[in-house]
Amino acid sequence: MKELARNARLIPPSGIRRIFNLAVGQKDCIRFTLGEPDFHTAPHIVQAGCRALEGNDNHYTENAGLLELRTAIAWRVKEKKGLTADPATEIMVTNGGMEALYLSLHSILDPGDEVIVGSPLFSNYLGEIISCGGVPVCVELKESRDFVIDPKEVERAITPRTKAILLNSPSNPLGSVTGPDVLEEIAALAVRHDLYVLSDEVYEEFNYDEQVPVVSIATMPGMRERTVVIDSFSKTYAMTGWRVGYAVGPEPIIRLMTHNQEGVISSVSACAQYAAMEALRGPQEFVGDMIRAFRARRDILVDGLKSVPGVTCRRPRGAFYVFANITGTGMSSGEFAVRLLNEAHVAVVPGSAFGPGGEGYIRMSYVVSEDDIREGLRRMAAFTAAI
Ligand SMILES: Cc1ncc(COP(=O)(O)O)c(C=O)c1O
Repeated sequence: MKELARNARLIPPSGIRRIFNLAVGQKDCIRFTLGEPDFHTAPHIVQAGCRALEGNDNHYTENAGLLELRTAIAWRVKEKKGLTADPATEIMVTNGGMEALYLSLHSILDPGDEVIVGSPLFSNYLGEIISCGGVPVCVELKESRDFVIDPKEVERAITPRTKAILLNSPSNPLGSVTGPDVLEEIAALAVRHDLYVLSDEVYEEFNYDEQVPVVSIATMPGMRERTVVIDSFSKTYAMTGWRVGYAVGPEPIIRLMTHNQEGVISSVSACAQYAAMEALRGPQEFVGDMIRAFRARRDILVDGLKSVPGVTCRRPRGAFYVFANITGTGMSSGEFAVRLLNEAHVAVVPGSAFGPGGEGYIRMSYVVSEDDIREGLRRMAAFTAAI
């Protein structure tokens, strides 16, 4: 048989799934592994999805998504990000933020084009870049900078093959938030070197410290025409399973993405789009309640980790992840995660699953109750004290 596609085979397996699978069957396991809110989609959103089904709003939609939904998204990005976008030509509804990322990379990259991305990173970025024929060029995000990207290192990584910079703030897995000053420097680099920027803003609402506001690089001078903003309903509205995200960008890129949508998924599930519309138009209080709950959990987890021997961590400003340093335990992140799971029934993700720079750390998602966080910490402290 002839060999299967090289690009498809090069995509690294998910280190998150590995631990997740090992934990299956451990009934008393405390799982700090998943990247999704443990909250349910609000009832009014669920009902909107059901109404769409019952009312026969269950056909293919435009490739770019329902214009009514894109209009609601235009209103939201104006309100939240200060970004003006034409719903008819500059916004596209996608199957989660993941598909928005994929289609935008697919529309921008030619084989061998380089994409600069901070690492540790959301590991799917590597697979998506490679899948689209690109070459990921990782710039290390250092704990000493609170895991915020250093524009000087970005500049050093630029070559004649660089086509784009991929940013993620607030960050998965780091919880870091990139402030406006750093984004301005990156924007200046993008303009000077004529680069596209993909700005993954799916954790935009999850920012716990007002000193560093979450801003979109697309609003900075010279950036609107070269930036694709990726956003999603998954995290903000606890809608991971509905699979609705969106891209906001310049007309030529959105046109190409929309064109290619036809051959990938044709259009996002219609009932999910109606539910997403309700998410934007309906009451928003529960989003604030969820964010407050996450902030309280972050503090319990970060404060509690201070009592875990061999583990240290900075207080992340956003998303719902803690990236804790475990070098004091003397174990690799993989060994730490597997032993912690087997010996203490606590599941965390080894930092090595998040690309270069991740070794020596573990990621803990605080998507479990406050009681479970406390119990998980107690088990971790007992585990590390005994090694
Ligand atoms: C950084 C980041 N970007 C994008 C996504 C994609 O989310 P979705 O496809 O559910 O919108 C995720 C999901 O975990 C993420 O962590």
